[in-house]
Amino acid sequence: MTDAAAEPTIRRYGPADRAAVRRIYADTAFFGEPVEAHFDDRELFADLGIEVYLEAFPEHAWVAVEAGEVVGYVLGCPAGDGAVRREVIRRMPAVLGRLLRGRYRIGRRTLSYFLDNAWAGLRGGLLEIQDPRYPANLHINLRRGYRGRGLGSRLLAAYLDHLGRLGVRGVHAVTTDRNPGAARLFEKAGFRLLERRQTPVWRRHLSEGVSLLGFGRELA
Ligand SMILES: CC(C)(COP(=O)(O)OP(=O)(O)OC[C@H]1O[C@@H](n2cnc3c(N)ncnc32)[C@H](O)[C@@H]1OP(=O)(O)O)[C@@H](O)C(=O)NCCC(=O)NCCS
Repeated sequence: MTDAAAEPTIRRYGPADRAAVRRIYADTAFFGEPVEAHFDDRELFADLGIEVYLEAFPEHAWVAVEAGEVVGYVLGCPAGDGAVRREVIRRMPAVLGRLLRGRYRIGRRTLSYFLDNAWAGLRGGLLEIQDPRYPANLHINLRRGYRGRGLGSRLLAAYLDHLGRLGVRGVHAVTTDRNPGAARLFEKAGFRLLERRQTPVWRRHLSEGVSLLGFGRELA
C-alpha cells in the first residue's frame, strides 16, 4: 500500500500546517501563479495577507492533504472583513517592527504593488462585499497539479458546512475574471455573482484589463 495512491483527505488546520499554507498562499497569489510576479518578498506578503487568519481564526481553516503533504486550504472569518481588518491593525506594529529591522526585501515590485492598490482604492477599483446577507468571507487555494480534481469543491463544502453549523447567515468571496476555476467553483457551489468591478491594480503587469468578481451565498 502506498501513500501516493491515497485519496486526498480534508481535515482541520493545525499549527503544524502553517508554513505549508503560507507557501501555497504565496505560490498562488498572482492569478494562481507565484507572488513574485508582482511582489518581492513572499514572507511580507503572507504576513500581511494570510497570517491574520492562521493566528486569529485558525478554528475556521481546513486543509487538503495528499501523501502527507498539505496541497490546499480554505479559511476565512465568519464575522467578515471588518473583524479581520481589526486583527490586521492589531498586528501592524509587529510587521512594521520587522520592516524597520530589515527583515523584508522591499524592491520596486513591492512599492508598485502598494502604490497601485492605493491608486485603485482612490479610484473605486477595489471591491469589498458589505452586504449583511453574506457576512463571512473565505479564501481558497490549491497547489498547481492538484487543481481541477474536485478538491476545491470538497474544501469549500467543509467550510460551508462549518459556517452552517455556526449559524452564519451567508458567505462571500472575491476573485477575478482571471481566476476561471474560482468563478466556476463558486457558481457550482450555489454562489451568485453580486458585483463585477474593473480594477487598475495589475495594469503594469497585464496588457488586458482585469475585473474583480464578488460572489455571495446565503446559508440555510
Ligand atoms: C480555484 C480552485 C480553488 C478551485 O479548486 P479545484 O479543485 O480546481 O476545483 P474543482 O475541481 O472542485 O472544480 C470546480 C468546478 O470548476 C471547474 N474548473 C476548475 N478549474 C477550472 C479552470 N481552470 N477553468 C474553468 N473551470 C475550472 C471544474 O470543471 C468544476 O466545474 P464542473 O464540475 O462544472 O466541471 C483551484 O483551481 C485553485 O486554487 N486555482 C488557482 C488559484 C485560484 O484561483 N484561487 C482562488 C482565488 S479566489
